[in-house]
Amino acid sequence: MAEPLDPGSSPLLAAARRAHEAAFGGAAVLAAWAPGRVNLIGEHTDYNGGFVLPMALQLGTVLVGSPTQDGTICIVTTSAEADEPLRVQFPAPRPGSSLSPGLPRWANYVKGVIQHYRDDGDLVAKALACQKAEHTFAGMPCGIMDQFISVMGREGHALLIDCRSLETVLVPLSDASLAVLITNSNVRHTLTGSEYPTRRRQCEQAAAALGKASLRDATLAELEEARSRLGDEVFRRARHVIGEIARTAQAAQALQHRDYSMFGRLMVESHNSLRDDYEVSCPELDELVAAALEVDGVYGSRMTGGGFGGCTVTLLEAGAAERAQQHIQEKYSGTATFYLTKPSGGAKALPL
Ligand code: GLA
Repeated sequence: MAEPLDPGSSPLLAAARRAHEAAFGGAAVLAAWAPGRVNLIGEHTDYNGGFVLPMALQLGTVLVGSPTQDGTICIVTTSAEADEPLRVQFPAPRPGSSLSPGLPRWANYVKGVIQHYRDDGDLVAKALACQKAEHTFAGMPCGIMDQFISVMGREGHALLIDCRSLETVLVPLSDASLAVLITNSNVRHTLTGSEYPTRRRQCEQAAAALGKASLRDATLAELEEARSRLGDEVFRRARHVIGEIARTAQAAQALQHRDYSMFGRLMVESHNSLRDDYEVSCPELDELVAAALEVDGVYGSRMTGGGFGGCTVTLLEAGAAERAQQHIQEKYSGTATFYLTKPSGGAKALPL
């Protein structure tokens, strides 16, 4: 990760080109960049056919490469967090032979994309192929949010994604008086652990008990009626999802109308629901949110992403960004890292 305003001239691209030369003895002939994302609101709703409202970041991943002649693929990572070995080689998939996941773990997602991705220019198909790679090669039964925003992000916009119809709406987010602050708790979560699939199963169980294709189609009144049949835990999981889907639709409207106070209140409701009903927050994230909310000029703050660590996202007046970082760092029992970032464009080829 780096902070390239223009990924094409970023130090990250220069470093990747050097790494290519060192590993393969020749210059890279193609390069591409894909952004990371932060989700403003709509958590654990994507795999329930609900709404999500992420934005693409100016932080991302760069990939450079060159063709080989011998039918093999060799990939090298410079990530400091990858498991060894940092270089792997395997035959390119052919009709009748396919790749399979294994060790090192870092290469699995890349292999999965090689296996499933076919260049057809359709962004939805591209995102779905990458989701399939994550399901079948990285062992993570994720929703569609991350892949959608990474390929469809637009500068100065958040993206409202309807994860049932797969329709998207760009929502302007370029008001100079506004800032989005991402705070990394530097506590790690392992989403491929049992918690994420367990939540997903509980949601499916609730939807089935309500006779619905997904929780997107359920109302709080219907859920309340079924309360005794569901058991307390499944009931609370579903209550989060149904409430969060409604909050996200409302938040997108608030953002359209530049009603940041309303947006902020919905963020806080989202965090509380993730903490109490969905139980995917952790003390570190709760601390960061509580500290952010003490700062004048902060509209709202919440955990973002899968949970169990990772980051919070805070919407605030641009003029409050400096003191918010100071205050959060002072109050946080751990060491936080901050990113002030603007909505960026989606994945693209970079000229070399
Ligand atoms: C992870 C998944 C996403 C989404 C979030 C929770 O980031 O990859 O698909 O489910 O968790 O909102």
